[in-house]
Amino acid sequence: MDIHFLETQYGSVDYRVSCDLRDKLLRKPLGMSLFDQDLEEEKDFIHLIGKNEWQELIAYLQFKKIDKVTLKMQQVVVAEHAQGKGIGRKLILFSEQFAIMSGFSSIILHARETVIGFYERLDYEREGEKFVEVTIPHFKASKELQ
Ligand SMILES: CC(C)(COP(=O)(O)OP(=O)(O)OC[C@H]1O[C@@H](n2cnc3c(N)ncnc32)[C@H](O)[C@@H]1OP(=O)(O)O)[C@@H](O)C(=O)NCCC(=O)NCCS
Repeated sequence: MDIHFLETQYGSVDYRVSCDLRDKLLRKPLGMSLFDQDLEEEKDFIHLIGKNEWQELIAYLQFKKIDKVTLKMQQVVVAEHAQGKGIGRKLILFSEQFAIMSGFSSIILHARETVIGFYERLDYEREGEKFVEVTIPHFKASKELQ
């Protein structure tokens, strides 16, 4: 699958399509809705997307700025039909290069227990005890960028 990655802006058409993907994959399975939360704070986030050769948005993640050198990676999703083909890995690697080019040197995240192995394969280091967020178990993890 031919895929290209780029930044999009809060409020854009691509941002709104990404919200639907996030709602479908990250919130509905938990009996929640993304649109119940205040998305206004996301106007200050970095939004990165992946599109296939038909310009279909199939991958998304966002960065929240924590401090001058640290970003928090959130809401990582790959469309169901595109999972298991290396696109998640490419999305993370693209986002790391984007972070470096933007002057950041560290990424932190909260990984669902079911996907902590995905981040560990990409050299994110698991930290501390399991905790509950959005009703399910998570681990903290981080990576220092080269
Ligand atoms: C998690 C997710 C982003 C992974 O994307 P993907 O495109 O399917 O992953 P990739 O094909 O790039 O996988 C890269 C590597 O991670 C491994 N991997 C993928 N999902 C994994 C999981 N849940 N647990 C452990 N390893 C996993 C793959 O086997 C592959 O291993 P390799 O090094 O042997 O090649 C995707 O499955 C998804 O969107 N899931 C639903 C939403 C979600 O849970 N997001 C995470 C919120 S914290």
